[in-house]
Amino acid sequence: MASETVPHGPHVAVRVPAKVNLFLSVRGIRDDGYHELTTVLQTVGVFDELRASLAGPPGRGQHPAARRHMRLELAHDDIAGLPAASENLAMRAALALARAAGVIDGAPSVREGGPRTVIELDKAIPVAGGMAGGSADAAAALVALNELWGCALPRERLKELGAELGSDVPFCVVGGTALATGRGTSLARVLCRGEFTWLALLDDEPLSTAAVYREWDARCAPSEVEPDAVLQALRACDPEALGAALHNDLEPAAFALRPDLAERKRLLLDAGAFGAVLSGSGPTMLGLAAGPAHAREIAARLSPDIGRTVIATSPAGGPELRRDAGAER
Ligand code: C5P
Repeated sequence: MASETVPHGPHVAVRVPAKVNLFLSVRGIRDDGYHELTTVLQTVGVFDELRASLAGPPGRGQHPAARRHMRLELAHDDIAGLPAASENLAMRAALALARAAGVIDGAPSVREGGPRTVIELDKAIPVAGGMAGGSADAAAALVALNELWGCALPRERLKELGAELGSDVPFCVVGGTALATGRGTSLARVLCRGEFTWLALLDDEPLSTAAVYREWDARCAPSEVEPDAVLQALRACDPEALGAALHNDLEPAAFALRPDLAERKRLLLDAGAFGAVLSGSGPTMLGLAAGPAHAREIAARLSPDIGRTVIATSPAGGPELRRDAGAER
């Protein structure tokens, strides 16, 4: 991490969880080219952390009047597959917020020595893994910079900005458990009692969401499966019922592109998972367990060549803002 290059001005940190789709049904293709979805989303305890700091000439860089010359930089470890600064969703979220809140006009200034906002990212959520890693980072950037820059935009406005960045971003701004419709951006809260434990099989080979939807177009028809059984299992906190109800219409498309994913699902079920489902558009495959001990037993029954596994619980709240001592404006 480039921490030695990061200045010690006011700063905030946001810890943000990954998401899983407990249910995803593709109802058809919309006029805007996106797919109409009915999906149940829940945050799961795999977290990225985003830190944002103000830096610049002493006494001037942190003054609101200087914000029009804000420069945004993204500092992060070399994480394989993480998009370069200009395409990174956290950076795009920062720019969207800056424009919406009037912090900067148009492109950020690159004046040498001018005030800067430095964004650092520590990632544990897999990149392009179907767990909303990029969307979670965008949500974290919106929440962090809304605070750091003193924009005071309400969460609803952050969700609207998020919807322009990606279909999962509005959910990542609020977290918890939600039923999403439309592109996945219209959210209704869902009651979930208790916690669920997952064994996630991570996969180092990213799978493009757009490619999975294109494959769905080529081989699948709109579905009418309803999420009632999932909603009922969440209300009852019944992991066996939830395991049986897990559903993802993108599986046939993802399995056509990556046949090994179907095999990974079968291995989880054979190893005793209550249910197994592709996370979003994949390639992360999730197995549902009775609790952490059961998840460890399932993991122990899998061959070591299965690759990296993570045990995590859901729901995992939403973005959590930490105002450090230096964050007082
Ligand atoms: O919204 P987001 O940028 O995350 O979507 C990535 C890609 O996934 C889109 O470009 C689109 O191809 C596909 N997608 C879709 N319908 C949705 C969500 C995503 O077709 N509801």
